Amino acid sequence: MLQQNKGAVSEASQTADDFIEHKALLGEAKQTAGDAMSRRLVVVSNRLGNIRDLAQAGGLAVGVADALARRGGLWLGASAEYQDSAASDEPLIHLERVGRIETAALALPRQEYSQYYNGYANSTLWPLFHYRLDLVDHRSEFLDAYRQINARFAKALAGLLSRNDDLIWVHDYHLIPLGAALRRLGLRNRIGFFLHIPFPPPDLFVATPDHEELINDLLEYDVVGFQTETDVANFRRSVQTTKSIAFDGNGTANANGRPVSSRCFPIGIDVDAFARMANEAAEDVQIDSMRRQILGLKQIIGIDRLDYSKGLPGRMQAFARLLERHPEHERAATYLQIASPTREQVGAYAEIRAQLEATAGAVNGKYADLAWTPIRYIHRAVPRSRLAGLLRASQVGLVTPLRDGMNLVAKEYIAAQDPANPGVLVLSRFAGAADELSEALIVNPYVVDEVADALAKALAMPLEERTARHGALLDRIRRNDAAEWRRSFLSALAGES
Ligand code: ADP
Ligand code: F6P
Repeated sequence: MLQQNKGAVSEASQTADDFIEHKALLGEAKQTAGDAMSRRLVVVSNRLGNIRDLAQAGGLAVGVADALARRGGLWLGASAEYQDSAASDEPLIHLERVGRIETAALALPRQEYSQYYNGYANSTLWPLFHYRLDLVDHRSEFLDAYRQINARFAKALAGLLSRNDDLIWVHDYHLIPLGAALRRLGLRNRIGFFLHIPFPPPDLFVATPDHEELINDLLEYDVVGFQTETDVANFRRSVQTTKSIAFDGNGTANANGRPVSSRCFPIGIDVDAFARMANEAAEDVQIDSMRRQILGLKQIIGIDRLDYSKGLPGRMQAFARLLERHPEHERAATYLQIASPTREQVGAYAEIRAQLEATAGAVNGKYADLAWTPIRYIHRAVPRSRLAGLLRASQVGLVTPLRDGMNLVAKEYIAAQDPANPGVLVLSRFAGAADELSEALIVNPYVVDEVADALAKALAMPLEERTARHGALLDRIRRNDAAEWRRSFLSALAGES
């Protein structure tokens, strides 16, 4: 029988056979739509958030954990520990319960996991979905590992489900085939998929020889959600191109005799929680900010994972161009870039790091003097509470990805500001967030002069214009916050909207 986790904290290994036996006991219980709140939520993502320390978690982790905390539920993700190579193929799961949330950390074989995560997910799909065909690395062993790991997730999840009206919510490009793998195991639950990154236009998407398989997999979900209308349109056009299946006016298509709904659900943040953190900045952040005030120095800030999609070298060049074209900012403005290490085993990430360090060095070499370092570059993760304080203490938030699903840092910058004296957001038109945040200074990150001029405009913007823009932006991020994101997705998943 399926083992239930009854203790405060417990561990268990469970099998798909348990699930199949359990499913037989459930008989033909009919899956009905409706009543999203009364059904257990089961979330699956590659990365498992730390539910013991939500203050440290990133956007997705906080949004998901909050949804689970409200209604109770299960969260399955990859464990930080690997499966012993001598172990059997049965899923090895570490279960842990904190309050109403249960997490299940799935141990996976090291080599296979690397070919799935560093390989197919981050060397094939990530560049492809960020419009970077030049960086796509196609290898059959990556695809094999991707399918194999997804099959392992499916088997593990099947063993953990207790009811066939559990709502299953799968997150991101690591797990596209999971829905189909669950269907193959006989699951009839409603299963939704949310893509946190962009979906490319069909002309780019078909460049992967696996495009038809990926579309077939996506069509096994009941709901497929995206960050922006552009992503939704790209997905629908790719389905049309690949399968000649059309979506109706409500965004629903009939695939394999089942309706599949495709919609846009822009992800948001918990605005009040982030604003509170920003307000309670650490002492040294406050001292640094006071020092700059005394010196009359303004701070431009960027906070990102060190990813080539974030446009970081171009951002540093734009800051250098600002100093060239607007020399009044020499010794008067400083640029702080925090870029946390990420996916370091993938070649393209090592290259972007070297490029960024060279650019920072060249700009500082050219402009720095004993009293002023133009670019301060920090290559490590920083606790969220500190990040919030740093965002509040910066007069300009510089968010210029070359392509981004949403970009939560843009929203965090707005939430962190003092409404009585807010800073200015300079935002790439290629971030999903630009669809909602039109009162930011919207720029094309490929045009260095344009970004430099936007920086000059932001640094000189009068208080009245700053407060008007910030007020409108704050309203927008409050309306589309994390609670609204999960409410709308789960209501669509339950078949209520
Ligand atoms: P992505 O999901 O591509 O990393 P987002 O901007 O949507 O981009 O989300 C990044 C999240 O990670 C944000 O919540 C941000 O505050 C956090 N983050 C980014 N850089 C760092 C860092 N150096 N240290 C800690 N957290 C970071
Ligand atoms: O937003 C895209 C995303 O891949 C998320 O799925 C993930 O949590 C985040 O970026 C960080 O990436 P990783 O899990 O590879 O560190």
